[in-house]
Amino acid sequence: MTADLFDSLETTGPSREPLAPGAVLLRGFARSHETELLAAIETITAQAPFRRMITPGGHQMSVAMTNCGAFGWVTDRSGYRYDAVDPESGKTWPAMPSLFRQLAEQAAGAAGFAGFAPDACLINRYEPGAKMSLHQDRDERDLDEPIVSVSLGLPATFLFGGLKRSDKTQRHRLVHGDVVVWGGPARLAFHGVAPLADGEHARLGRRRINLTFRRAR
Ligand code: SIN
Ligand code: FE2
Repeated sequence: MTADLFDSLETTGPSREPLAPGAVLLRGFARSHETELLAAIETITAQAPFRRMITPGGHQMSVAMTNCGAFGWVTDRSGYRYDAVDPESGKTWPAMPSLFRQLAEQAAGAAGFAGFAPDACLINRYEPGAKMSLHQDRDERDLDEPIVSVSLGLPATFLFGGLKRSDKTQRHRLVHGDVVVWGGPARLAFHGVAPLADGEHARLGRRRINLTFRRAR
């Protein structure tokens, strides 16, 4: 049996897995929208290509990123920020497709955060070996708004910790179509992604793409 077939059996029908108070994994929540999501990502990345940004400390990230929506998350030598303009092109970021907005609102609602209206969507591309170190999402103005994270392509190990960097982390395998929502008491939980294992995904090849929806302003 191929890994992909196994993944699709694992995610038959959405189900909820609580991670912590305020955090839930919605298995397969985005699965039925995969074709439209992937087409929209193609359109966005044709206008605002993936790029590996530089951290304030001068390191190039292993994850390649781009954004859509009114604001995009960027990092460079001067720090992390949300910016309405793509620094590579000098133009505003591509608009957030209504499907993205609706999916994020529905997932947030299913997790108990009604009325989520994201204005920023960070699009992360992981190739084998790429990882994201433990961090908090804290550049957003209103921390009462949750984070909605959609996984596509190769499976990843998501690390989900507590409010202190040193807190023990849970490890959850995220597959194509899974959505994680965290907010409320979990909003500032440390989280990250372990180095991506190589593989071949039927729709995305040797890649994982993650969408994180935020209310930045
Ligand atoms: C992030 O924290 O921005 C990304 C999480 C993920 O790729 O699952
Ligand atoms: Fe994050």
